[in-house]
Amino acid sequence: MDKIVIAGGKPLKGEVMISGAKNAALPILAATLLTPGLHVLTNVPNLADIRTAKKLLANLGVQFTDLADGLQVDSTGLVSWEAPYDLVKTMRAAVLVLGPLVARLGKARVSLPGGCAIGARPINLHLKGLEEMGVRVALAHGYVEASVKRLEGAEIILDFPTVTGTENLLMAATLARGRTIIRNAAQEPEVSDLAKFLRAMGARIEGIGTDVLIIDGVRELQPASHRIMPDRIEAGTYLAAAAITRGEVTIRQAPVEHLTAVIDKFLETGLKLKVEKDTIHVRPGGALVGVDIKTMPYPGFPTDMQAQFMATMSLARGVSIITETIFEKRFMHVSELRRLGADIVVSGNQAVVRGTKTLQGAPVMATDLRASASLVLAGLGAQGQTEVHRVYHLDRGYERLEQKLSALGANIWREKA
Ligand code: UD1
Repeated sequence: MDKIVIAGGKPLKGEVMISGAKNAALPILAATLLTPGLHVLTNVPNLADIRTAKKLLANLGVQFTDLADGLQVDSTGLVSWEAPYDLVKTMRAAVLVLGPLVARLGKARVSLPGGCAIGARPINLHLKGLEEMGVRVALAHGYVEASVKRLEGAEIILDFPTVTGTENLLMAATLARGRTIIRNAAQEPEVSDLAKFLRAMGARIEGIGTDVLIIDGVRELQPASHRIMPDRIEAGTYLAAAAITRGEVTIRQAPVEHLTAVIDKFLETGLKLKVEKDTIHVRPGGALVGVDIKTMPYPGFPTDMQAQFMATMSLARGVSIITETIFEKRFMHVSELRRLGADIVVSGNQAVVRGTKTLQGAPVMATDLRASASLVLAGLGAQGQTEVHRVYHLDRGYERLEQKLSALGANIWREKA
């Protein structure tokens, strides 16, 4: 298993280009299942999770061809309607095939995702919404078995604005008979990117970007082309990397309009930055001050940036209170950050971070995707050498992380552990 080694303490300097968004590419790949034909997707990031999604779709009969600047997806001949345990256990987002398969084939068999490092993460809201659209759902041998003759439009009120749940129901509703209204829908930009792709396929969707999605089902959809939006969490992670090293970094192709909550919080810490159309310039400055954050559904502060912000706060002046409201176990990075010398105390869903002057490099263990990113950031800001083990977590969601950081002057490399 690989490890990433970082000789920290060096301010980053230079430019970095943001890749396509993992969390937009995953539902959009699943949406190609809705109709036969040749779709073309561009700006698809080259990540482990995307490779898992392609494997899952290939199992269902989808064929992929790499184009010079994108990916051709041929969803003509489906041969299966099952998402097997082996794939769902490595990537929960595999449940995104449920809605499209039920809509196109009238049936799906999807392994139930188990618990994961950051909490229970059930899919009850996905299933309840589908049942409201007339789907019969049974649980057998660890699998969800869903079947329906024809999906019926329904009014669905989500108890919580679940992201992949909204996406599953949105995809299913495009081919349902009549109108579906999803209330308390997730407003994450990746849901909107999916909705735009669905519209390009001929779906009739109103309310994109709001918490009420109105979908008038159509008989059939057509294949479409789409450019995946840039990754706001990757952009936020490089913002944190610049902040923690007091660097001077230009972040290009950043989805600035979707980063407002993150940028505002970094500005509050005293970080000097200038924002242009799709570019963020971080200027070098003095010490940052501790700032409180509370994770919330979009447009609030994203839970996927919580760990990276915490790493930055561990080297700020003063105290920062970090409240996690989305996932109950998302503080796994705390004990590892402490090994680097961070002063963090957790009580329930709150972490109190008392900034220290320095962190010291040490071997640490990644536990989930964003936790690993926070350890890399802490390593960049620490004195001496940090080794981040279980790098496969990072590879799920960051494209060419060491190369991009090396190009910014970081001393970072990968070794066989
Ligand atoms: C998505 C993102 C993930 C991000 C998360 C929250 C993708 C592929 N993943 O995950 O990166 O961290 O949104 O922004 O887009 N819940 C239920 N029942 C359900 C569904 C969810 O109780 O049926 C709860 C979850 O346990 C959790 C909360 O709702 O506490 C939010 O989860 P959800 O928005 O569904 O996250 P994901 O879609 O899995």
